Amino acid sequence: MFKIAPSILSADFTRLEQEIKKVEVEGVGYIHVDVMDGHFVPNITIGAPVVKSIKKKTKLPLDVHIMVEDPEKMADQFIEAGSDVLTFHVEATRHPERLLNYIRSKGVKAGISLNPATDLSSIKYLLGSFDLVLVMTVNPGFGGQKLIMPALEKVKELKKIKKDKGLDFIIEVDGGVTEDNIDLYTKAGAELVVAGNAVFGAKDPVQAIKNLLSKGAI
Ligand code: DX5
Ligand code: ZN
Repeated sequence: MFKIAPSILSADFTRLEQEIKKVEVEGVGYIHVDVMDGHFVPNITIGAPVVKSIKKKTKLPLDVHIMVEDPEKMADQFIEAGSDVLTFHVEATRHPERLLNYIRSKGVKAGISLNPATDLSSIKYLLGSFDLVLVMTVNPGFGGQKLIMPALEKVKELKKIKKDKGLDFIIEVDGGVTEDNIDLYTKAGAELVVAGNAVFGAKDPVQAIKNLLSKGAI
């Protein structure tokens, strides 16, 4: 069964604690935190001090997605802030394997993310070095965008690779999830589904999570 990772990008940043408390319900695996640097993506969000504050306020593990250039320069501050999973982009560094190993050496789950146009071959030789792969199904930078359908092909391929090789990484998807299309993601093989607008943009986030869980069930 898959889990939901509500993305606080679509939450009310002036009331973060209450927003996070709302989604501490059955079926939620992580709180997804989007960090953007204004270089790797054309938007700026939050940094390590905010992650540190959130960590103190929730029992849910934090899935920290850093959309930043040169992630190796920032990994320590996000590890120290309390990331349970720290995911960076394969496009953002020359030495992804080094950074994955470093993150793991600090006792944190290491995640690797791919933009919609990035081929799976970019992580082929990293298999075994990551605990989670985050397939972007929109171009990173903003919430509330539309699913880029071809990116789901990568999810299907990852599911197959995982099974054939007997590996045990988490397959996560991020971007464009709605109640109407979540089944496409889960049928493809998504195990952890990020939902920003679909949860925090809804009148009743708890009901929205229930709907996503029931509509994505396969
Ligand atoms: C986009 C972020 C996503 C975003 C998803 O760059 O990585 O996590 O919050 O938002 P929705 O679910 O609204 O597409
Ligand atoms: Zn994200």
